[in-house]
Amino acid sequence: MVSAALLATISGVLGYALAQQAAPPPAALAYTPLSSPCPANLTLVRSAGGKNPTLSPQESAYVAERRRKVLPGAFKTYLSVVERSADQQNIPLPHYLTTILGGQGHLPTMSISMSGGGMRAAIFHAAMLNAFDARNATSADAGLAGLLQASTYTHALSAGAWTMLSMLQANFPTIQDLVFGTDSGPGGEPTGGWNSNFGIATISSNTTVEDDFVEVLLTEIAGKFQAGFPVTIGDVWSRALARHFTNGTTPSNFFATNVTHGAGLRMSSIIDLPEFTNHALPFPTVTTDTISTFQNNSDLIPMGISPLSNPIYEINLFEFGSFDDVLHSFIPISLLGSQNGTCVTNFDQISFVQAVSSDLFSSDNTSTVSLNDSLLGSVVAVLNENFEQPGIRLDSAAIPNPFMGIEPEKFIDHNQTILVFADGDSDGENVPFQPALVKERSVDVIIAIDVSSDIADNFANGSALVVAQERVAQFSHQYSFPPVPSSTEVFVAQNLTTRPTFFGCNTSPDVPLLVYFANGGPPLGQTPVTNFSTLVEAVPQQQVQSIMDQVFDIATQGIPINGVEKDPKFPLCLACAVADRTRARMGKKREGVCETCMTEYCYN
Ligand SMILES: *[C@@H]1O[C@H](CO)[C@@H](O)[C@H](O)[C@H]1NC(C)=O
Ligand SMILES: *[C@@H]1O[C@H](CO)[C@@H](O)[C@H](O)[C@H]1NC(C)=O
Ligand SMILES: *[C@@H]1O[C@H](CO)[C@@H](O)[C@H](O)[C@H]1NC(C)=O
Ligand SMILES: *[C@@H]1O[C@H](CO)[C@@H](O)[C@H](O)[C@H]1NC(C)=O
Ligand SMILES: *[C@@H]1O[C@H](CO)[C@@H](O)[C@H](O)[C@H]1NC(C)=O
Ligand SMILES: *[C@@H]1O[C@H](CO)[C@@H](O)[C@H](O)[C@H]1NC(C)=O
Ligand SMILES: *[C@@H]1O[C@H](CO)[C@@H](O)[C@H](O)[C@H]1NC(C)=O
Ligand SMILES: *[C@@H]1O[C@H](CO)[C@@H](O)[C@H](O)[C@H]1NC(C)=O
Ligand SMILES: *[C@@H]1O[C@H](CO)[C@@H](O)[C@H](O)[C@H]1NC(C)=O
Ligand SMILES: *[C@@H]1O[C@H](CO)[C@@H](O)[C@H](O)[C@H]1NC(C)=O
Ligand SMILES: *[C@@H]1O[C@H](CO)[C@@H](O)[C@H](O)[C@H]1NC(C)=O
Ligand SMILES: *[C@@H]1O[C@H](CO)[C@@H](O)[C@H](O)[C@H]1NC(C)=O
Repeated sequence: MVSAALLATISGVLGYALAQQAAPPPAALAYTPLSSPCPANLTLVRSAGGKNPTLSPQESAYVAERRRKVLPGAFKTYLSVVERSADQQNIPLPHYLTTILGGQGHLPTMSISMSGGGMRAAIFHAAMLNAFDARNATSADAGLAGLLQASTYTHALSAGAWTMLSMLQANFPTIQDLVFGTDSGPGGEPTGGWNSNFGIATISSNTTVEDDFVEVLLTEIAGKFQAGFPVTIGDVWSRALARHFTNGTTPSNFFATNVTHGAGLRMSSIIDLPEFTNHALPFPTVTTDTISTFQNNSDLIPMGISPLSNPIYEINLFEFGSFDDVLHSFIPISLLGSQNGTCVTNFDQISFVQAVSSDLFSSDNTSTVSLNDSLLGSVVAVLNENFEQPGIRLDSAAIPNPFMGIEPEKFIDHNQTILVFADGDSDGENVPFQPALVKERSVDVIIAIDVSSDIADNFANGSALVVAQERVAQFSHQYSFPPVPSSTEVFVAQNLTTRPTFFGCNTSPDVPLLVYFANGGPPLGQTPVTNFSTLVEAVPQQQVQSIMDQVFDIATQGIPINGVEKDPKFPLCLACAVADRTRARMGKKREGVCETCMTEYCYN
């Protein structure tokens, strides 16, 4: 990533700049957190309670308003798309289905759950959201449009969080505009889209260009260091990701040092955007894992670095913390970084949250040699050269621990001043199910999108679901999970990753029904383009389009007929799944096409 030459010179350069108090770049100023004493009457930590923890009042209020003002119309739009598909095929819809989706009862609570998997996953999720987007006429013709607008929640980890947060912070543009940019943004300026032609941290094979780029990233985090906060590879990664997944970078200013490149855009500022105040956005949550000195390592899955018993953290637009009863505590997201009566703002940067959830570098730190040989090694060396921070782990993302002293018997980090974060997949649960399982959210349907690289050809094999089921078994007093096979062999043998599969069709309506879409193989006899490595950072825009086109077929194919033709009734089947929990609660039997669909699409 960076060369030995840079290593030799950079500390001199940075040290000189800092000593001379040279004007820091605007991104460094915008990235620096601010500290002040907390107001005397502030209670920083909210205890969410134990077994059945409570949501923040702000989340409850947002969801209630969304349900009242937005969801009835959104479901009507979705229903009209489903009815059109049914009419074209001359298939009558069960009366209960049109009643439920028409809003004459309790509207289903849906969450869309997006996995990690680098640029492969980021693009895959964008294409799935496009297929679910009411604004896209092609998606309406395919019978899926409107699911995105009708969802109550979106949950994401790692690259899923790149897609989700980039969409939200851009005020919910169409997916094409989000990914590819537009020529006429506000004020007639072009917007950059994801700038996917450029790599993220690895920009060039020309070491001069690459070293200059990494040096700029380091100058951008220097202000945070000088303000007394730990800076790690998570911060370097944050500044690199910001050039793709937050506003402010275009192909023409990509290397400019006089713009902020998204620094200063905060999680807590998303709530001021028009689409949020209109309640038009599904309520978003990012999940991430910790690694801790006192974790129970007998509980690690193979290759995992965060045991299943560690708390899973949630970062949403209002709060940071964990619902797991080993912690069950939250602080306001706007005060992320606060500790001991010092209140911190501007720490909750969007790109930092994207980095916290996607810091996969700690996995390379299995030994000094493997660390040294990895991408991480050279960055750790320059961090060490420039920022002296004894005792700080540099391979991960660091957040001052606001939960010290809480649950000394159960909380592994109760006496640690820094919480150490690694990729949301560090426990092997690469699909973020946990937020949807919190009882008070009452999620009926989880649409899970799994773009894990499990096998040699970078396709998924269901391991994220196997692991999720294992974790829920450890927290069974708190959460319930629909039954899934306990081994990936079954997923593979039964083709559960190469076609959409519904899980939990016959369990209690209090357990969410799971609609599973995996990147498990190419659709309809096509040549695969969706299975490149998680480490690929740059994807030319033309290639992005062809990936999105193939994912559109993965979203819409259903169980292919003779392996090559889309199942035309799949949109109806998906609608049946969306309404199924409400149907059960109404005491109705499955009827007509829904009965057929559930037989074909349900596992067991
Ligand atoms: C704390 O005190 C300030 C004024 O000093 C007041 O504006 C604020 O509402 C108080 N907050 C709470 C939670 O009581
Ligand atoms: C709608 O989705 C299709 C399929 O991915 C895509 O080709 C098209 O550009 C999208 N249209 C708009 C207006 O975003
Ligand atoms: C990001 O840019 C979009 C326009 O492209 C704008 O609508 C939105 O408000 C911006 N977001 C933030 C957080 O400034
Ligand atoms: C690397 O980039 C620098 C700066 O743009 C340029 O001067 C140099 O010729 C490039 N080296 C090679 C081998 O292309
Ligand atoms: C940044 O610098 C470029 C040229 O170096 C200039 O065209 C541009 O206006 C500057 N932008 C800002 C925000 O100062
Ligand atoms: C660590 O995990 C193992 C396996 O789940 C369990 O048997 C053991 O009781 C745990 N140890 C502690 C101290 O919690
Ligand atoms: C908070 O208190 C702990 C323990 O006393 C200390 O190690 C840490 O540095 C303090 N943090 C801040 C921001 O003062
Ligand atoms: C780390 O790698 C560098 C060269 O890349 C090598 O000189 C050094 O000996 C290595 N250190 C260890 C501990 O492996
Ligand atoms: C690598 O992991 C060890 C703990 O296993 C930790 O002490 C060390 O700080 C890590 N190295 C880096 C560079 O973060
Ligand atoms: C911190 O807590 C762990 C148990 O959670 C304990 O083993 C360790 O001794 C504690 N360290 C200190 C310095 O109190
Ligand atoms: C599925 O992927 C996991 C890694 O995520 C691997 O350990 C397991 O062996 C794979 N199972 C099969 C059947 O290939
Ligand atoms: C899985 O798919 C393969 C090839 O598409 C097919 O031959 C096989 O019968 C399918 N297995 C099951 C259990 O559906």
